Amino acid sequence: MKVVTLPGDGIGPEILAAAIEVLREVAPDLVYEPHLFGGAAIDVHGTALTDEALAAAKGADAVLLAAVGGPKWDTTDPSRPRPEQGLLGLRKALGLFANLRPVRPVPALYDASPLKREIIEGTDLVVVRELTGGIYFGASGREQDSAFDTCTYSVAEIERIARRGFATARSRVTSVDKANVMESSRLWREVVTRVHSEEFPHVELEHLLVDNAAMKLIAAPRHFDVILTENLFGDILSDEAAMLSGSIGLLPSASLGENGRGRNPGLFEPVHGSAPDIAGQGIANPLAMFLSAALMLEQGLGLEREAAAVGSAVDRALAAGLRTADLGGSATTAEATQAVLAELWKTDEELEPSAERR
Ligand code: IPM
Ligand code: MG
Repeated sequence: MKVVTLPGDGIGPEILAAAIEVLREVAPDLVYEPHLFGGAAIDVHGTALTDEALAAAKGADAVLLAAVGGPKWDTTDPSRPRPEQGLLGLRKALGLFANLRPVRPVPALYDASPLKREIIEGTDLVVVRELTGGIYFGASGREQDSAFDTCTYSVAEIERIARRGFATARSRVTSVDKANVMESSRLWREVVTRVHSEEFPHVELEHLLVDNAAMKLIAAPRHFDVILTENLFGDILSDEAAMLSGSIGLLPSASLGENGRGRNPGLFEPVHGSAPDIAGQGIANPLAMFLSAALMLEQGLGLEREAAAVGSAVDRALAAGLRTADLGGSATTAEATQAVLAELWKTDEELEPSAERR
């Protein structure tokens, strides 16, 4: 199976290389094809997403992306290329309308979160974010003394993400909108309500306004199972939700299109950015990248056992005390990688006692 890798910018190349070390351990037969992406591609090719990278991604079994962006390419000039255009272009071109961001704080890190342990304990939620519509892709532009962005959603776009949200839920879907102000949100609410009653009546559905949802996410995160929301609200709420797990350096994400034969590959990436301030120092936390690789194994390549091995090795490494700088420790990227590899190498017998301890 072929994986297209997009290291991107900043800490991207370091953490992606670390993830491949881990992947080689559990899935030695995967073949990797790297491509420049984001700012790195702008520097060489003048565009964040080249035709070659896009064609390779379309032909791959999965795409593994690290992070894009950095001050070097920051501009407010609409005529200059931006690294983020690569990411948005890739999501759109691959039809990746469903972005899944699971948030499950690791018990070993309950005290690393800025929130109290009593609040975050037992949190286990997934943000299901619509990824190819809304204000990210609506008409936008500048006029003499103004600028505009438009948020448009079609019924079909809302239906397919609503179905994915309900299918992901174990008990409850919290649909988040701004239906007291926005017309697109009122359509969102109508369509989600209809998909629920016609196709998923056994799942509980509630509607929350986005401002209220932002508050409840911090006040009572255990309440949530699936948070189903549109593109921009999902972007904001998923960064907020990341802090429940102590660091944004721990959150993976999967971007998926339609299921079934002939479908485009999924894209797997950490929720965090390219952290240009610490790039090249070898101190970035690679765990969200490892967990994104695990999501790729599970959801993109159907290698569930291998995925579970990576996930539990990360948990055990954290339980054994692994802490990178973002978690208040001093482990380097290389040390974090070694700690996870060491857990992977442990035999079942070596793991037994620790399984009992927990
Ligand atoms: C994310 C990021 C992207 C987004 C940026 C880099 C365009 O913040 O994946 O959450 O806004 O979707
Ligand atoms: Mg974001």
